[in-house]
Amino acid sequence: MKYLIGIDLGTSATKTVLFNDQCQVVASASEEYPLYQPKNGWAEQDPLDWWNAAARTSKQVIETSGIDPKEIAGIGISGQMHGLVMLDKDGNVLRRSIIWCDQRTDKECEEITELIGKKRVIEITANPVLPGFTAPKILWVRKNEPEIYAKCAHILLPKDYVRYMLTGEFATEVSDASGMSLLDVPNRCWSDEVLEKLDIDKSLLAKVYESPDITGKVTAQAAALTGLAEGTPVVGGAGDNAAAAVGTGVVEEGKAFTTLGTSGVVFAHSDSVTIDPEGRVHTFCSAVPGCWTVMSCALASGLSLKWFRDNFFTSEMETAVGMGVDPYYLMDKEAEKIEIGADRLIYLPHLMGERYDPYARGVFFGLSAIHTKYNMLRAVLEGVIYSQREFLDILRGMGVVSTSMLACGGGGTSKIWRQMMADVYDLPVQTVQNKEGPALGVAILAGVGTGVFESVPEACRRFIGLNEPQAPIAENVERYKEFYEIYYDINHTLTPQFRKLQSL
Ligand code: XUL
Repeated sequence: MKYLIGIDLGTSATKTVLFNDQCQVVASASEEYPLYQPKNGWAEQDPLDWWNAAARTSKQVIETSGIDPKEIAGIGISGQMHGLVMLDKDGNVLRRSIIWCDQRTDKECEEITELIGKKRVIEITANPVLPGFTAPKILWVRKNEPEIYAKCAHILLPKDYVRYMLTGEFATEVSDASGMSLLDVPNRCWSDEVLEKLDIDKSLLAKVYESPDITGKVTAQAAALTGLAEGTPVVGGAGDNAAAAVGTGVVEEGKAFTTLGTSGVVFAHSDSVTIDPEGRVHTFCSAVPGCWTVMSCALASGLSLKWFRDNFFTSEMETAVGMGVDPYYLMDKEAEKIEIGADRLIYLPHLMGERYDPYARGVFFGLSAIHTKYNMLRAVLEGVIYSQREFLDILRGMGVVSTSMLACGGGGTSKIWRQMMADVYDLPVQTVQNKEGPALGVAILAGVGTGVFESVPEACRRFIGLNEPQAPIAENVERYKEFYEIYYDINHTLTPQFRKLQSL
C-alpha cells in the first residue's frame, strides 16, 4: 500500500493528514499557533511556528498510524496565500511574516499601480495590486526596515518556507505565486517587467513549478525531526483555495464552490485565462497544469455570524454548552422561524472592509421597533449570501458559468444557509463527502506528481464523492430576488459615505 501526506498550513493551525492511495484518511493531527496584531490592521505570524507545527504533526500522523514512512510516496503542502517570508543568506528568518489579512500597505499598492500602470498591472498579474498581496509588503519592508531588506537573500510564501525546511529547496508553484503581484499569470512565470519596475532582484524569488511537479526531497535533517523518510518527494502543492478546489473536485469547466469560512469565497475553474478588467475578482493559476481559476474573497462572511453570536447570543452560547450542541445550531433553529427578508431588514456584511473597498463597513438597513435580534440574525445570514451572489454574478458576467455549486467551510455545514444559497443563486447546492478539502487536494497533487495517480481530474473523478443536492425552491427564488435588488442598490450607493465616515 502507498500513502500520501497533505500538510495544510492555515492561519489558525497547521493540519497534517495521512491518506492511503484510495484517498481515505489514515491519521490526522493539527497544531495551533498565535496571530500577532502589533497595530490596528497589522497581522503577522512566526514562520518557525508553522515549521514546528508541520514537523510535529507529520511525526504524529506517522506514529499514530504505525506505517513505515518509506511507504509514503509523496507530500503536498497547501497554505494561506500572500504572506511574506524573508530569509537571510543562511536561510534564517529575518522578521515575522506579514500575512494575507494585513492591511498596512495602502500606499505601496498605489505606488506599484502608478509605476506599472493600472491597466498594465492587471494585464500582467491578472489582478489589481491589493494590500493583502505580497509585492506591496516587500516594498513596505524595504522602506520601513531597510536594514532587514539589506540582509534579505530569499523571499518565500508561507507554505514554501515549510518546503524549504523539509527539502532545503527554494521553490514555489504557480497557484500561490499568482497572489504575489509579481507573476505573469497568463504565462505562468515571474514577470521581468514588473520586477524591473519595482527594482526587485529576481534572484530573491523561488523557482516556479506547476503544482503537481516534484520540487525537492526530504533531507536527512528534516527526516530526523519529522519521522518522514529521507528522500520522500515533496510536490509543489497549492495556495489554500486552489488546493481546496482539487480536494472538492472543482478542476473542470462548469464546476464551482462557495466557502463560508471567516471569509467567503466564490471559486470557479476555468480552462482559459479570464480577467475581470475592473479587478473585482482574482484570477490565479490553477493547481491543474494549464488551467486558471477565478475567485472572490469577501472578508467577513462567517466572521459576521461569529460577531453576531459573540455580541448578541451570549446566553444562547451558555445554553448550547449545557445541551452539548454547537451554538450555531441553536441560531439556525431561530433563523428558520423568521420569514425570508427578515421582516424587511437587510444586512451588508463589510465588517472588515472589502478588498475592492477597504472603507466599506457593515450596515443594517430598514431597522424598525418591531425587529428583534432574531430578525437581525436572519438578516446577517441572508446578507452574507447576497454578497456572495454579487460576486457570482461578476463571474457569470465573465463567462465563467457553473450549473451547480458546492458549499464548503464551516458555514457550508448549515442546512438553512445552504438552502439560502440555493435560492439566492438559483442553483442546486451540494456538499462534498470528504471533509479534508485542501489537505486532500495537495495529497492528490502529491499522488499525481509521484505517479500514484494519472492526472488531477482523473483522481478527482475517482475519489471525490458528493452528497445529494439541495434544489432551489422557485417561490423562494422570486422572493429573495426582490430583497437582493435592494441589497445591491444600497451596497453601491453607500461607497462615498463609507469614505466620508473613514475620514472623520
Ligand atoms: C485568497 C486569500 C485567502 C488566504 C487565507 O486571496 O487571501 O485564501 O489565503 O485563507
